[in-house]
Amino acid sequence: MTTVGMIGAGRWGGNWIRTLAQLPGTQLRWVCDVSPASLDKIRHQFPQVQTTTRLEDLLEDPTLDGIVIATIAPTHFDVARRGLQAGKHVMVEKPMTLTTKDAVELTDLAQRLHRVLMVGHLLEYHPIIRHIRKMVESGELGDVHYLYQQRLNLGTIRADENAWWSLAPHDISVANRIFGEAPISVQCRGQNIVNASIADVVFATLEYPGGRLAHVHVSWLDPNKSRKLVVIGSRKMVIFDDTAATKLVVLDKGFEKSGDLITLRQGETTTPTWDHGEPLALEAQHFVDCIRTGARPISDGEAGTLVVSVLEYGQRSLEQGGAVVAIPAFNAALRKSA
Ligand SMILES: NC(=O)c1ccc[n+]([C@@H]2O[C@H](COP(=O)([O-])OP(=O)(O)OC[C@H]3O[C@@H](n4cnc5c(N)ncnc54)[C@H](O)[C@@H]3O)[C@@H](O)[C@H]2O)c1
Repeated sequence: MTTVGMIGAGRWGGNWIRTLAQLPGTQLRWVCDVSPASLDKIRHQFPQVQTTTRLEDLLEDPTLDGIVIATIAPTHFDVARRGLQAGKHVMVEKPMTLTTKDAVELTDLAQRLHRVLMVGHLLEYHPIIRHIRKMVESGELGDVHYLYQQRLNLGTIRADENAWWSLAPHDISVANRIFGEAPISVQCRGQNIVNASIADVVFATLEYPGGRLAHVHVSWLDPNKSRKLVVIGSRKMVIFDDTAATKLVVLDKGFEKSGDLITLRQGETTTPTWDHGEPLALEAQHFVDCIRTGARPISDGEAGTLVVSVLEYGQRSLEQGGAVVAIPAFNAALRKSA
């Protein structure tokens, strides 16, 4: 039995708690939150789980294997570092930290202490994203020319972070995974509408080696609920629309070039099947499996660091009114084999 504790019992933490409480071979032993009111609710729903406002109660429990952190982003670094230092395996929600420097420090610490460090890049565990990754890796799509993503809705409007930091980590993690490496530059334009200092909508362009582009459009002030990824490959194109009845469509579309002659290919459209499963349950299971086996998580500290670096340099671009900002190469090359 793997024992875990949850830190942060807010909106998203509540989903984690429900998931961990039902996970086979796992015991949710503690829930910690600085808000006693949040803990009252948890005690009522899960009377078998111990609750506390003191992080130390979890860190000093020698029977606790791992912690899951779903507190607000500015606390991630400190809570995760304390967890690792106490010998716990750590799963920290996105964004992993607020600076690349802190993300590198956590990654190094986990490596030194031989602890699992995983980041909550939920889409990496989505069965459809995994299916698309396999299509890329098997060559079915050909060379990926470019991709674009939308993450739009009306709400949740946050006061402690902008739409870029709140929503884009998912899209950046997917783009990095599909291209198999990290971008070399980022350009972000945004608009602050609800609050004078917080971007509600951001249009970002990430440039990957070879001039390949990923465009990311995030907003919490939009009439559409949209969760969309479109990948343009040299052999096939893919549309993943998480809000549509048919979520995954593969199109044999493209162009053929013969000398100066260009003809468009309008081949068949297919709707493949994929392994079903709830992304959060798969993500939670992966964390527990990594604790048990010592395997490196798919969304490990290195992948989290690369995402934070894009967020950090994208924020600079936002503040410079949309300048193209180069992202320094970090020694963490994204592993293609995960
Ligand atoms: N992976 C996803 O799809 C996904 C979705 C939503 C949110 N998130 C992430 O989850 C995290 C939490 O988001 P949320 O919407 O639940 O926020 P929230 O504000 O609803 O909840 C945060 C909770 O953390 C508690 N908290 C804050 N600081 C704490 C500390 N130092 N120790 C213990 N508890 C503390 C607060 O009291 C609150 O209950 C954020 O990092 C967010 O980006 C991830």
